[in-house]
Amino acid sequence: MSSNPEFQDQTSPPPVVGVIMGSSSDWDVMQHAVAILDEFQVPHEMRVISAHRMPSDMAEYGEQAAQRGLRGIIAGAGGAAHLPGMMAALTPVPVYGVPVPSRYLRGEDSLLSIVQMPKGVPVATFAIGEAGAANAALHCIACLATTDSELQQKLQAFRRRQTDAARAMVVPPHVIA
Ligand code: RP5
Repeated sequence: MSSNPEFQDQTSPPPVVGVIMGSSSDWDVMQHAVAILDEFQVPHEMRVISAHRMPSDMAEYGEQAAQRGLRGIIAGAGGAAHLPGMMAALTPVPVYGVPVPSRYLRGEDSLLSIVQMPKGVPVATFAIGEAGAANAALHCIACLATTDSELQQKLQAFRRRQTDAARAMVVPPHVIA
C-alpha cells in the first residue's frame, strides 16, 4: 500500500484501520503511524478530515466507520484538536489520538485538547509527535492482536528486535573533565 495519502491502492484488501488527520500538514507526524501499519501489514486507509473545515465529512466518516469494517481509527490533529474526540463521539470504533506539534504551543494545546475528554467518550491519547503516532499504531495493533495470533507473533518479534537492539547499545566514549 502506498504511504502517500494522495495515492491509495485500490487493489488492497479492505482497510481495518483508518488513519485520519486534520490537515496534510500533519502527515510528517502521521506517516510514523502508517509506517508501523505497513510494517505489520495491517490493511489501512489514510484521509485528511478536518473537524472545523469539513464537519459533515467527519460525521459521515464516523457514522460509516463500523459498518465499513474499521476496527480502529488513529486520529491526529494539532492546536484545538477536536478531530479525535469528535470521531470518538461519532463511532463505537476505538479512537487512538495523536497530538500533532503546533506552531505556537509545541503541541501542548493538541495534547490537552485530545487527552481531556469528558467522562463517557474515551480517546486513547499518545505522546506528542512521531513517537505518539508510532505508539498509537502499535497499541492499535496490540488490540487487534488479541484476536489474531499471527499478528500477536509479529508484535512479539518486533519487541524482541527492540530488546536485542537495546542490549547491543554501548555508551559512547567520553572524556572526564
Ligand atoms: C489542525 O490545524 C490540523 O490538524 C493541523 O495540525 C493544524 C494546522 O492545519 P493547517 O493550517 O496546516 O492546514 O486542524
